[in-house]
Parts: sequence; C-alpha cells; structure tokens
Amino acid sequence: MDAAAEQKYDYGVVRWFTVMSVVYLVVGAMVGVLIASQLAWPILNFDVPYLTFGRLRPLHTNAVIFAFGGSVLMATSFYSVQRTCATKLWSNRMAWFTFLGWNLIIVSAVITLPLGITSAKEYAELEWPIDIAIAVVWISYMFNFIMTISLRKSPHIYVSNWFFLGMMVMITYLHVVNSLAIPVGMFKSYSIFSGVQDAMIQWWWGHNAVGFYLTAGFLGIMYYFVPKQAGRPVYSYRLSVIHFWALMFGYVWLGAHHLQYTALPDWTGSLGAAISLAMIIPSWGGAVNGMMTLSGAWDKLRTDYVLRFLIMSLAFYAMSTFEGPVMSIKTVNALSHYTDWTIGHVHSGALGWVAMVAIGAIYHLMTRLFHTELWSTKLVNAHFWTATIGTVIYIVAMWVSGIMQGLMWRAYDEYGTLAYTFAESVEAMHPYYAMRAVGGGIFLLGALLMLINILMTVAKASSEGSVQRARTAIAAA
Ligand code: HEM
Ligand code: HEM
Repeated sequence: MDAAAEQKYDYGVVRWFTVMSVVYLVVGAMVGVLIASQLAWPILNFDVPYLTFGRLRPLHTNAVIFAFGGSVLMATSFYSVQRTCATKLWSNRMAWFTFLGWNLIIVSAVITLPLGITSAKEYAELEWPIDIAIAVVWISYMFNFIMTISLRKSPHIYVSNWFFLGMMVMITYLHVVNSLAIPVGMFKSYSIFSGVQDAMIQWWWGHNAVGFYLTAGFLGIMYYFVPKQAGRPVYSYRLSVIHFWALMFGYVWLGAHHLQYTALPDWTGSLGAAISLAMIIPSWGGAVNGMMTLSGAWDKLRTDYVLRFLIMSLAFYAMSTFEGPVMSIKTVNALSHYTDWTIGHVHSGALGWVAMVAIGAIYHLMTRLFHTELWSTKLVNAHFWTATIGTVIYIVAMWVSGIMQGLMWRAYDEYGTLAYTFAESVEAMHPYYAMRAVGGGIFLLGALLMLINILMTVAKASSEGSVQRARTAIAAA
C-alpha cells in the first residue's frame, strides 16, 4: 500500500513543503507575538532599527502569509492534484525548482525587510528584483499544476483543483499588475501608478490576496482534506461548483471597501460594499457544505482531533465572512476603519480559518507522506485547544479595543470638541494589547507543540524505516 503510493506519486517535494510550513508557522507566530508585545510595551523595540515594530510588522505578514501559507498551499495542492488525477507530477524537477525558489524568496524577505528595504505596498512590500523572482517561481508552480491536470487519468477535474487553479491564475496577474514599477536602483523602485489609481490597484491586489490566496486556495485545501479526513464524500458537489464560480466572479469587485471615505469616487465604495454583502451567500454556502460533509459522522469529532481542526476552521470561516461584509458597509466602516476591529477581523480569518484548516491538512498529510502514525495524538488535542483558546483571546481583545477606539475617537462634548485626546485612547487600549499578546503566546505554544510532534513523527518514520521500506519495495518490484 505504502510502496504503491510511494511509487505512484512524487512525495519527496511535498514532504519538504509540509515540514517547512510548520517551521514558518512557528517563526511567523513568534514575530507576531513580538510585535504584539511591542505594541503593549514599546520598550521591546530595544531602540534597534532592525527590530522596530515598523520593520517587523511586514516581516510578520510576509512570514505567515507567504512563507507559511505559501508552503502549505504548495504542499497540499501538489499532493491532492496527484491523488485526484491519479498521476505523478508533470515535472518533479520543476516542483523542486519551485521549492528552492520559494524558500530563497523567503530568505531574501527575511534579510531585506528588517533592513528597511520595502516598496511600501501592503502585502507586496518586497522590492522589484524579488518581485520578478516571485513571478517566475509562481508561474513554475502554476504551469506544473496545469500540466499535471492535463495528465489526469480521471475523466473530470475534482473541485479542489478548480479552487487551486483559480487562485494561481488570479494571483499571477494581480501580483504582476500591482508590482509594475520603475526601478531607480537595485533596492528601490516606484510604482508606475500614482495617487488614487495607486491606492485602487493596491487594494484590488490587497483584497484579492485575501479572496484568492487566503480564501480560494484554502478552500481548495478544505474541499480535498475535509472529505478525506471525515471518510465521506463532499456533502453537495453541485454546491461546491456554485461556490467556486460565485467566489471567482464576486471577489474581484470588492477592493474599494478598503478605501471608503477616501479620494476614490463614492460609487466605487458603494459597489464594493454591495458586492461584499452579496458574498455572504456563497461564503456560507461553502462553509455549510464543508460542515455538512460530516452529517451522519459527527461522532468522529469526539475522537478525531485532526478533524476538529478542520471543522473549527469552517466555523471561523463562516464568522469572518459574515463580519467582513458587515464591516464593508460605509456607516460601520466609519467606526471600524483604522481601529483594531480590522485586526480582530483579520486574525479571526487568519488564525481561525487559514491556520486551522492548514494545520488539519498538515497533520493529515504527515501520516500519508511518512507512512506512519503521528508521534502523539494527545499533543494534537493539546494543540487544538491552545490554538482555539489563543485565537479567541486574540480576537475578543481586538474587538473590544477596536470598538472602544472607534467610539472614543468620535465622541464629542457639548461644545463640539473631542471628548478624548488620542493619548487617552492609546492608554485605554493597553490592557487589550497585553491580552492580545497573551492570546498570541498561547497560539504560539500550540504551534511549538505541533513542530515537536511533526519532527518526532519524521524521526519515528526514519527509525521505523517506513519511507525507506516503501522505496526498497519499489526498487525490488
Ligand atoms: C501568534 C499568532 C499571531 C500574533 C500574536 C499576531 C500579531 C499581529 C500583530 C500585533 C499585528 C499588527 C497589528 C497592528 O498593526 O495593529 C498583526 C498583523 C497581521 N497579521 Fe498577525 N499575528 C499572529 C498570527 C497571524 C497569522 C497566522 C496570520 C495569517 C495566516 C496573520 C496575519 C496578519 C495580517 C494579514 C496582518 C496585517 C493586518 C492589517 O494590516 O490589517 N497573523 N499580527
Ligand atoms: C466575504 C468575505 C469578506 C469580506 C467582504 C471582507 C471585508 C473586509 C473589510 C470591509 C475589511 C476592512 C477594510 C478597511 O476598513 O480597511 C477587511 C479587512 C481585512 N480582511 Fe476581510 N473580509 C472577508 C473575509 C476575510 C477572510 C476570510 C480573511 C482571511 C484571512 C480576511 C482578511 C482580511 C485582511 C487581511 C484585512 C486587512 C487588510 C488591511 O487593511 O491590511 N477577510 N475585510
């Protein structure tokens, strides 16, 4: 069985992507806890420019989104495309090129961002030589994926592959267009867009990084790994296809909801808000589809800790895709924008949805890729509770702090002057910033437990010789 799988599929590169993704989760969460603590206790900036909040914040976002998220997406998509198409990768060598290229890009981000080298565009901070490298490596990933699908032995293309493909195509052109810039040196460039067009293009990219990368890509993971882990077919295949097309057509229109009450024409914000509200329907359709896959097998949640991660992630997916549309309404955004409410929304999506679904998929992958059981399932349970409790503490702290900020900033006294100084609002936020750092610390503890479990599982597989045995069986056959 193991030998057959080892022979039939290219697992080597997927193993590396999987293990590295856990390493990056720990690193990204560590930097997250550090910057959260800096906001609560500014002394932790240490007066060292490389360690200041302003430089480490983009390091955090790049580490969690592109290093962790990217490695997870590449691991899961390269794995599931082979399994659903019953074929090896079109080019194993090209997959290794993608792995090495992606990791070199991560290393260059780790060097340049603390040095203050940045294009100053959110989620697209890396300078132009690195942007070119991202485009090349990403296209190698997409090309290999498409060619693998073309080799499929199954008559149709399973829905998870559609989601992965949608993400790959959209991210290619979003990244290329948003990164168009005129270089003025090796490490400095200026966007070819200016003023309000620059803002619009930036948030067209920014929201679609959320919509296609952090949502569509991770839905690809959900549609493969939830049915596999639950041992049941997806609840409604038809719904999954509607979900796919609705997301593809809807998400591209939303970017302007990041720019309400700015120099952008007013109607663009209204359009962004209207389509955002409409997106509740397909998003919830997808979440319900994932959860209902468990119908008749809910009892599995009692014993299957990996499944718990996957189902909890869907609850957070539903929650954040309700909250986001509400925040896009102009009157709500007038309160929420610039406040920690946005940060709370981000992390209910990022920790609750993106990280949880990824973690569930990684645990599932480990047993298949290394042909062994996890080193400790008790540790998976401990991880589940630390991740859930840490996430809830984080987002509750940010909701309270954000709504309080918004209310304090707009409070007037009877003479029409501001009721609070800005400094007073900063002081009021302090307990919640400390609480967020604690929540983040608990989440980080869970990630560390996971890293230990994953490394011990690799060590266990190597002492059992399970991968080696599978390979030897192939050689002997
Ligand atoms: C231990 C876990 C984490 C902690 C403590 C943490 C902490 C933080 C902090 C303090 C900020 C800056 C907030 C501000 O500027 O006011 C931030 C921003 C951000 N984090 Fe995290 N984070 C964690 C995990 C994650 C993960 C796993 C992801 C994604 C998968 C993520 C995605 C983001 C994003 C996208 C932003 C930018 C938000 C915005 O600009 O509105 N974080 N995080
Ligand atoms: C239908 C679904 C969603 C809608 C309509 C939506 C809408 C919004 C809105 C209105 C904002 C605040 C914009 C502002 O005031 O600046 C926002 C911020 C954000 N959302 Fe969502 N959201 C959705 C789902 C998600 C999910 C699932 C994630 C996953 C991680 C996510 C990640 C983010 C991030 C990272 C930001 C902060 C961007 C920044 O300012 O740096 N959103 N979203």
